[in-house]
This record gives sequence, C-alpha cells and structure tokens, in this order.
Amino acid sequence: MAKSPSNNALRFMMLVFILLVSILDQGQGLLHYSIPEEMEYGSTVGNIAENLGISVRELSARKCRLVSADGRQYLEVNLETGVLFVSGRIDREQICAESTSCNLAFQIILENPLEMYSSEVEILDINDNSPSFPENAIVLEMAESIAPGSRFPLESALDPDVGTNAVNKYIISTNEHFGLEIHVRKGAITTAELLLEKSLDREQQATFQLVLTAVDGGNPPRSGTTQINISLLDINDNAPVFDNEVYIARLEENAPLGALVTKIKAVDLDQGTNAELKYSFVNVVPRKVRELFSLDPETGEIKVQEQLDFEDKNSYELDVQAVDNGLPAITGLSKVLINVIDVNDNAPEITVTSLSDKVPEDAAPGTVVALIGVTDRDFGANGQVQCHIPLELPFEIQSSLNNHYKVTTTRLLDRETTPIYNIPVIAWDSGTPPLSTNKTMQISVSDVNDNTPRFSQSSYAIYVMENNAPGASIFTLTAFDPDLDQNSYISYSFRRNLQDYLVPSYFSINSINGTIYALSSFDYENVKTFQIHVQARDAGVPPLSSSATVNVIILDQNDNAPVIVSPSAQSGSAAVEILPQSAAQGYLVTKIMATDADSGQNARLSYQMVQATDPTLFSVGRNSGEIRTTRNILELDETSQSLVVLVRDNGQPSLSSTTTILLSILGNVSEKISEPRDSYSNPGYFTDINLYLIVTFGSTSVLFLLTIIFLVALKCKQDVGVIQVDGCTVCCFRPRDSKEAFARSPTRGDPLSCSASGQTAPFPESYHYSVCLSPESSKSEFLFLKPYNPSLTQAQR
Ligand SMILES: *[C@@H]1O[C@H](CO)[C@@H](O)[C@H](O)[C@H]1NC(C)=O
Ligand SMILES: *[C@@H]1O[C@H](CO)[C@@H](O)[C@H](O)[C@H]1NC(C)=O
Ligand SMILES: *[C@@H]1O[C@H](CO)[C@@H](O)[C@H](O)[C@H]1NC(C)=O
Repeated sequence: MAKSPSNNALRFMMLVFILLVSILDQGQGLLHYSIPEEMEYGSTVGNIAENLGISVRELSARKCRLVSADGRQYLEVNLETGVLFVSGRIDREQICAESTSCNLAFQIILENPLEMYSSEVEILDINDNSPSFPENAIVLEMAESIAPGSRFPLESALDPDVGTNAVNKYIISTNEHFGLEIHVRKGAITTAELLLEKSLDREQQATFQLVLTAVDGGNPPRSGTTQINISLLDINDNAPVFDNEVYIARLEENAPLGALVTKIKAVDLDQGTNAELKYSFVNVVPRKVRELFSLDPETGEIKVQEQLDFEDKNSYELDVQAVDNGLPAITGLSKVLINVIDVNDNAPEITVTSLSDKVPEDAAPGTVVALIGVTDRDFGANGQVQCHIPLELPFEIQSSLNNHYKVTTTRLLDRETTPIYNIPVIAWDSGTPPLSTNKTMQISVSDVNDNTPRFSQSSYAIYVMENNAPGASIFTLTAFDPDLDQNSYISYSFRRNLQDYLVPSYFSINSINGTIYALSSFDYENVKTFQIHVQARDAGVPPLSSSATVNVIILDQNDNAPVIVSPSAQSGSAAVEILPQSAAQGYLVTKIMATDADSGQNARLSYQMVQATDPTLFSVGRNSGEIRTTRNILELDETSQSLVVLVRDNGQPSLSSTTTILLSILGNVSEKISEPRDSYSNPGYFTDINLYLIVTFGSTSVLFLLTIIFLVALKCKQDVGVIQVDGCTVCCFRPRDSKEAFARSPTRGDPLSCSASGQTAPFPESYHYSVCLSPESSKSEFLFLKPYNPSLTQAQR
C-alpha cells in the first residue's frame, strides 16, 4: 500500500468539502456508520431512508446521491430500498494509512429541496497484514572481542495494521550468545536491538545465522522473519601452540652437517596474519648452541649446522618459540631436547709416567717401572679400555686403579743382554669397531756390578828369552768385564801368594792395561819359570775380581861356553896325562869331561881335536870326548905329545873352549896300572879307575879352588866382608847399587841367611852366595857355589 503523492491533495480536498458541508448542514443530524474494512461488494452498511426518516420514494424522487470528498466512491445507495452498501474495496491501510482512526466522510444530497446530510463510515481495522522486514537478511560484522552487553540496532519490521494488529513482539532464534532488547514507547515497539549476552570466540564459532521473527498482536497473529548473518572478526587472541611440549631428538655425534634433528610445529587458532607463524630460538639459548643448530623460521626444521661432539656435550636443551604476525604478536614456547649419542670416535689416550728413568738390573721381579694412565673420551663401551704389551718382554701390565696401570718386571733383567727396552703398550676400547692406540715407552736398565772381570784363559804361558832387556814389556793380559762404567773399569795387579814373593822384584804390571814388564834380565841357568798370579778387579762397589795364572817360561840362550871339567889343567898350563908305551891301539888315554850351563842343544857338546903333535896317534870321540890311541905306540914316537881338544856346544852360534893335554909316554909303566886301563869298560876295575880319576880331578880341583877362594876372599874384603863360621867362609854381598850392610845370622844350623840392619827378613833383591870350605870333610873337599834362594833351581854345577 504505497503512499501515493496525491494523498495529501486528496486530503486537502476532503477537508474543503467537509467545511462546505458543515456550512450547509447547520443544525442537521449526522449519520454515523461503522464497518470493518475489506467488506465484500454489496455488503450492507445501513439504511439511509430509515436513518433519515424519509420514505424510499422520496429518495429516488429527490435524486438522493452520495458525494465523497475525494471523489472516490466506496459506497452506494440503493434508491429502491435506501440501503447503503459497499460498492468498492475498502482497504483501511490504503485509505487511512497508519492513522489509528479511519472515517469515510460523504454527503447525502437530496434535491427538491436541496438538502444535505453529512455522514461518515468508520472503517475498522482488521489484521490483514503480516509484519515484514525491509531486507530479508541482516548482515553484521563484529570483533570477537566485544564485551557482553554490547548492542546492535536492528531494522524494525513493518506492519501496516494498526493497534493491536501492529507488531508487538520480536523473537530471535535460540542461540547461546545473542538476545534482543526491545524499546517500547506508548505501548508500541519502537526499535529492537541485538544484545550480546555471552562473550564470543571466533575460534569456536566464527559465524552465526540467526532468525529474527516479528509477530503482530492480531488474532490470529501474523509474523515475518529475517535472517541475521553475523560474522566475527578475528582478534589475535590465540597464542601459537606447539604440537609437543617437549621435542626429544636423538642424534649420533657424527651426524653430517645439514642432518635433520627434528621438526617443530606450532598451530595458531587465529586467522590470517594472526596465524602466520615464524619459528626461532628463544634468546636464552646460548650463542654457541645456536651455532651448532639451525632453525628454519618457516618450516621449523632444526638441522645440524656444526659438527657435534658427544665428548664436549652430550645433550642440548633448546628453547624454541613460534611468533605470530598479529599486532601485537603472541608467542608460543616449547623445548627441544637433543640427546647426542656417542659414537666410538675417540681412540684411547695413553700417558706414561715413568717412575725412574733407569731400572737396576737386579730389581726384584714385580718391581714397578712405570705407571700408565689410559683415558678414552668416549662413553660406555666405547670408552672401556684394555691395555696390553704385545711383545714377549719381561714386563707385564697390571691394572691398578680405574684406568691406571702399572708396568712391572716379571723376572730379573740383565743389562748386559738388553740395556734398553722399548716396550710397546696397546690400548683399545670396546667400541665397534674398536679403536686402539699404541705407545712405546723406553726403559733403560742401569748397571749393577754383577759380572766379574774375566780373562780369556785361566792360565797363560809366556816365553821369555833369557838375557832380555830389563824394563821391556813381555806380555799384556786383558780381562773383560761386560758391566758398565766403573763396574767395568779393570785394574790389574799381582796377587801375592807366599811362593810368589819374588815376583814383584822381577815383574811389574801396568794396572790400567795389564801390560807385564820384566824388571830384570833373566838367567835361564838361574831360574827357568815363574808363576805369576794376576788379578783383575773392577771398580764396582763392592768390587769383583778374578785371577789368572801366568807361567813365565824363560827360554835358554846359548850364553854359556862349555867348561872343561877334566882333565883339569892348572891355570895357564895344560893337563898332564901319562900313558904307557905298551898301550895298544884303542887305548883310552883320558876322557874329556865338559859341562855347559845351557840346556838342550846349547848344552849338546861335541869334541874335536884341533891340534896334535902327531895327529895319527890319537883321536877324540866326537860325542864321548874319549881320547884313544889309534895305533900302537912305536919306539919312534915322541914321548911327550900335546893335544888341543876343542869342545863345542850346538847352540846358534855355538860357543867353544879348548883344553891342552900333555901326554907323556912312559916305557916302564907296570901292567898293573895299564891293565885296568885296557879293561876300562870292565866294572871290576871301575873303583880303581875312579879313584885314579878322583885323585887327578881332586888335585886339579884343589888347585882351582884355592885360586877361587883366594880371589873371592880378595873380592869380599873389598866389597862386603867375609865371615868364618864353622869352617865356612861366608861372603855376603849384594848388587853394587845397594847401600845396605849385611851380616851373617849367628844362629847355627839355620840355612844361611843375610840380614840387613839386624833384621832377618830375606832380601830378594840381593844375591847371596856362600862359599863353604869344609875342612872336616875328609872324603872330599867340596866346593859349592849357589845363589841363596831355596825356591830357585840350583845352578848347574
Ligand atoms: C546469510 O547466511 C546464509 C547462510 O550462510 C546465506 O545463505 C545467505 O546468503 C547470507 N545472506 C547474506 C546477505 O549474506
Ligand atoms: C703402533 O702405531 C703405529 C702408528 O702410530 C703403527 O704403525 C704400528 O703398527 C702400531 N703398532 C702396533 C703393534 O699396533
Ligand atoms: C799400557 O800402558 C803403557 C803406559 O801408558 C804403554 O806404554 C803401553 O804401551 C800400554 N800397553 C798396551 C798394550 O797398550
């Protein structure tokens, strides 16, 4: 029922008409009718004839007609019956719009006489319209954060009906959050507002579709609805939430760079930028740890950035955050625990602490020589270490404390065999595969004086030619000591045995190099051997020594000429032999006896006739020295013959002496004398011949002895002195350089000895000779000359 713009003009005309009627109808009655709107065509409203009190005939006669102000004819009069009836559609809402009272005013005009009667028909409202909303949907947007109590005005529903038929109630569809607030003025609803009763959460429900119903008060009531579409605007009211409170990752320490450790993920319930997340480490994560791991801000992937080392740190705790892009931004937190798994990447390490740089070779088995510490930075089995010496050495490793070992000897060492040990030690862990380390430690064995000096032989034989040069070295003894340094410094000396007391006078030894020197010139004819005991002693503490025997053997030199003993010739003159003329061929005239102080070939003598008065008459046995006649003696032969016999030894060069024998041939020598000579070989006559020889020899000897005594006495008087004891002339003298005086020990029966300054100790440096002539000896006058030394071999007669 649109409001037509001509309505105002219509109203104005009606007003004018009513004014006109009022003027005409002064003092006349008003007809009033009341009908509901929308009555059917022809419906009776009333009877004008009856109401006006005029007859029906008069109506038609007087041309009764109805005049309405707006010219629209809703009613007509049946002139036959006087009934006023509905002649058109009477829509109260169209005619009166929203005014609460609606009257159709019209004039009943009668002519002859012109009479005008004002009438009106009140149109009563019926509920013929439903409330309706201007739009069929109301769209609202609101922030999810608005507080309960907030109101949103709603457009009212329209209902052209009036009064009770107008809208008197709004209803909203059932929901948790929204209600209605109705404003009423003068019993009529003016506005309705949407009221937030309970706070909103976009994340729970982002849109609401509600239905608003407007209901009028008619009977039956009519209603109209509209949709309310509410969409909530996001507010950054949700923190990002990680899908794990703690992320736990396990990672081998040798993980390659770039390996994925874990991926973190957070969710933000908000929308749009409020839900755009960026991942990062929280500031409290140390810089060093950030260098080890990288975190992709977009994907949340945590990767290895630098090489990890279990031994440095075996777990990491990373605080991570997700920040949304809202304003202000909200942060969500989480933690990442990274456990680093050990990998056997460290070989054991060996540290050797040597107790002493040298182990004495006599150290008892079990002596600790070194301490070893073994460490492995790995963990668990990867760090469990075993230690071992791989070679067959006299050392073993014993575990002492945790990962500490001691190296001990297993037997006695011998520096002379192995002075330095290089002991390899291998340590390996129990990882798979195991890692091992080896280290070689050096142990030096220090020397102990456990070796005696050793001579290469236990006895040596040295041959020394007599008449050697005094002071010359004759031999060098060398002993060897395998020990070290002073334990091997050897000094040589003579060991003084009782029977060796002469040795120091004859020999000396260089204590450093063992060279033996002969101090004097030896005389083979005097001494043939010496026995020297040489001791080699090292300088250890205590010293060790050993000795060797050196037999010095003096070799003979042909330094003695043969000495003719018989027949003895007076000094200056020849020996005289007598032989009978009757001597037959082969007659033994005499036998030349000679001695040679030398020995061996040097004393092998041979005899040779070098001169003879008649060389045909005598011959000398080359070896026997026997002078025999080669033929019978003739009368013609001279009675005095002389022979010169040369005695030569076999030395190189040989020495010789000669003797001259004078032979007298006697014509009347008795057979008695000559007989035995013939049978010289007959033992029965031996005594006589012997006697004869002794007499001959004795007489020449006496002569010789007397000469010597005389000479000796003379010599003694000059040098030292001669003492006469018990018929022995004793002469003591010493080498010329000696300044000592000598005296004869007075004790009778003692071996002859000389004492110096009253002391009776023998003087090895001296030579003592006693010349004893015993007058009591009736059998023979015995001459002996000997060096006074009981140990020395006696000189040959
Ligand atoms: C209101 O919401 C309903 C359901 O979602 C939809 O079909 C309708 O088109 C919406 N109306 C408007 C004007 O957005
Ligand atoms: C010890 O280590 C060296 C290298 O360092 C190696 O050549 C040798 O073979 C190892 N010895 C043993 C017994 O393992
Ligand atoms: C021993 O030492 C002496 C003195 O130094 C020397 O004359 C001699 O030649 C040395 N002997 C040896 C065998 O070296």
